[in-house]
Formats: sequence, structure tokens, C-alpha cells
Amino acid sequence: MSKLWGGRFTKKTDQLVEEYTASITFDKELAEEDVQGSLAHVTMLGKQGILPDADVETIKDGLHRVLQRIKRGDWEYEIADEDIHMNIEKALIDDVGPVGGKLHTGRSRNDQVATDMHLYLRKRVVEFVDLLHKLQSALLEQAKANLDTIVPGYTHLQRAQPILFAHHLMAYVSMFGRDAERLQDSYKRVNMLPLGAGALAGTTFPIDRHFVAKQLGFDRVYENSLDAVSDRDFILEFLSHASIIMMHLSRLSEELILWSSTEFRFVELDDAFCTGSSIMPQKKNPDVPELVRGKTGRVYGNLIGLLTVLKSLPLAYNKDMQEDKEGMFDTVRTLQGALQLFAPMIATMKVNKDIMRQAVNQDFSNATDIADFLVGKGLPFRQAHEVIGKTVLYCIQQGKYLLDLTLEEFKQFSPLFDDRIYAVLQPENVVNARNVYGGTATPQVSEAISRAQVELEATAAWVTEFAEKSR
Ligand code: ARG
Repeated sequence: MSKLWGGRFTKKTDQLVEEYTASITFDKELAEEDVQGSLAHVTMLGKQGILPDADVETIKDGLHRVLQRIKRGDWEYEIADEDIHMNIEKALIDDVGPVGGKLHTGRSRNDQVATDMHLYLRKRVVEFVDLLHKLQSALLEQAKANLDTIVPGYTHLQRAQPILFAHHLMAYVSMFGRDAERLQDSYKRVNMLPLGAGALAGTTFPIDRHFVAKQLGFDRVYENSLDAVSDRDFILEFLSHASIIMMHLSRLSEELILWSSTEFRFVELDDAFCTGSSIMPQKKNPDVPELVRGKTGRVYGNLIGLLTVLKSLPLAYNKDMQEDKEGMFDTVRTLQGALQLFAPMIATMKVNKDIMRQAVNQDFSNATDIADFLVGKGLPFRQAHEVIGKTVLYCIQQGKYLLDLTLEEFKQFSPLFDDRIYAVLQPENVVNARNVYGGTATPQVSEAISRAQVELEATAAWVTEFAEKSR
């Protein structure tokens, strides 16, 4: 059979043009969604009396057989048939005969491809919320196991104030929680039906778009037919959310890489998640976080790529828009890989509590607390800051830490010091003094963990509900 659109043409398509314009090599990934959309469309054509019931049944049976063949791998696509939509239509006509040609009644590939993309992405949105949930759970479990682990907290990568390692991990639980929330929010914009927009203006057939939407589980129908076929915002939104998730993963990656260096030795990643060197036998490299850090680049690239494709693009469909797919598939695969690896890597990570604790003993991260102590004695904070600055300088010159100073040495800097400062300076007390909502004190972190647990249960329930809806 010649091309589905061959009627108007007198010449064969140039071979290179055929190859250049075809999308089947990558949009074959949409086969299932394409058949799903076609089944709903043809059912509606039957209900509306646009096609006789017998034809509808023949087409549906044929579509099921074509999908089975695709799934079995007992199918070969033709570049000449351009994309998944025409390849499936061709396979259908081969299977059921000319009646298969009735499927495309009242439909265009423009509203068809948009529908496929919506069906595809809404599944991914639910899967990614699930993957984020798994990673959050792994971080939360490590936080629970490290409620008594004190570690230096940093600003400017310089030791700042001691914190609970659990508190540090819970920061990531919050970050990935916002990511999940963003994806959940985007669901309502992914879950919209473009089909029925036709090529751009609607269709002359008395179709029922709301019936199609209902069959496919879409909550809304696009209001405007031009917008329906031109809109790729929902993909951009997904690519933005994916970029932010990768950015968060890259920050965690960077910390894991630093923490597992010999200079830090705060954590050790499990052998199963590291690789060796072909020349240096002693090496154990944190390749997974390094690659995730690196792959963040391509995920940003896919976002910028599609933003640029869409920039200044006139309404409605333009072939440029076929460029929405490869970047999206690439981002889906990249993000899936990263999240799937991170959850077990965090779960199996060994935390060197003693080394973290030793690090806290060897720094001035308790300096703020004796400044606060002097403030408690009535000294204005600015003056207290000056006093402690001088005390720290003295320590550095003497090769001592604050806890090594005698009370007499302290008193050289202010008569307000008394022996209660030794308790104030203990890292446990420094941590627990920050007993404000969201702070690092043990009771606050415990409560943060409990609250996160409740949220994670709600997310799990959302995933169960929406996994069903988005199938
Ligand atoms: N393969 C095309 C795409 O991915 C499908 C839509 C083609 N529509 C058209 N009028 N050529 O965008």
C-alpha cells in the first residue's frame, strides 16, 4: 500500500527526506498510548452513530491484535510510514482490510499525537512521585538511625554550627517532598484531553469529546482546538520539574562524593554502588553520584531545547513540535535511573558516626553559643561577637579549641564568663539549644520525622489512587 497521504502527490518522497522527517524510530515508545487513544476514539464514533457498530468492533479487535504483535516484538515498523500513528493505522488496515481506514474519521494526527503524549506523561508523573517517595523513605530511615549523630554543619563549606546528621538528611526529605508536590500539582494539567481538536479547528463530525475524555480518565477537555494541538506546556512543566529534581540530586551527589572522600570519611557507600579503577587497585569511586551530577546537564539541556523549539512558533501544529519527544524520553530514562539507584544507595550507606563526632570536637562551631551566653548576661550581641572573635583568634594562636581554655583564659576576654560555659560548649548542648520549630534540636528533628512520616503515607495513598486512574 502506498502512503496514507499519498493521493495528492505525483512523485515518491526522496529517501533522505523520508528518513529525516520520520519519528517512528523514537515515537514507537507511544504504541500503547496510541492504541489506547484510538480505542476510545472509535468507541465514541460508534456511540455517536458516525460508524456502524460492526465496523467499530472490527477495528477494535484489529487494534488489540496490532498491539499484541507490537508487544510480542512480532512487528516491524516502516520508516516510509513516518510515525507510530501511521504505522499502527497501516498495520490495522493490513489486518482488517479497508474498514480500518475508517478509524481516522474526525481525527488528525495533530490531536492524536498530543493525546498520546498526555497519556504517556500522566503515567510517568505518578511513577516519579512513587520513586521520589521511595527515596524520601530511604532518607527518613537513615535520619531515624542518626538522631544521635552530630556532624559539623557548613556554610561556605566552612564549619558553621554542629547539627544532627538526621537534620541534614531531613532537609533532603523536604526538598524531594516539594518535588513530589509539584508533580502532583501538574497532574491536573497533564490530565486533559486534546482529542477532538482535529487538525486545528475541530471536526465536521458530531463527535463527543467528553465521552472520549471519560473513557480515557481525563478530567478535562481542552477548551480551544488551536490550543489543544499547539500546547506543549505540560511537557515543559514536566521537564522543569525533572530539572529541579536532578538539581536536588546533584547537590546530594556532591555531598556524598565529598563525604566519602578520605578527607571527610563521614560516610561509606556500599560496594554494590561503587566502581574501581583499572590502574589504581586501592580505588573505590562514587561513580553513581558522579554520573547523576553529570547527567543533570542533559536534563537541563532537554528543558532548554524544548523551550527553544517552542519559542516564537506560530499556532497551530508545526513539524518542529515533533522535536518534543526525544528529549522527553531521555529525561524520563535519566531521571528513572537516578531515582531508582539513589534509594537503595542511601539505604545501604554506612554512616561513620564517630568520625563525624570527632570532626565536631575539632572546630569552633560552638562559638555562636558562647556569644549567645554572653548575650544572656546582658552584653549586646555585637559586643559579644567581638569578644568571641578575639577568643577564637587566641585559640588559633595557641593551637587550642574553646573547650581547652581555662576559665582564667576565658576571663581575659570578658569578666562575664563563668564555669557554666563548659556545658554550653558541649556539642550535644549546642545542638539541643536550637529548640525552635524546624531547628536541629533532637526533639524538633524527631517531630519533623513524625510529620514527614504522615506526609509520606499521604503520598503513598495518592500514588495508589492515581496509578489506577492513569493506566
Ligand atoms: N510525528 C508527528 C509528531 O510527532 C505526528 C504529528 C504529525 N502531524 C502532521 N501534520 N505532520 O509531531
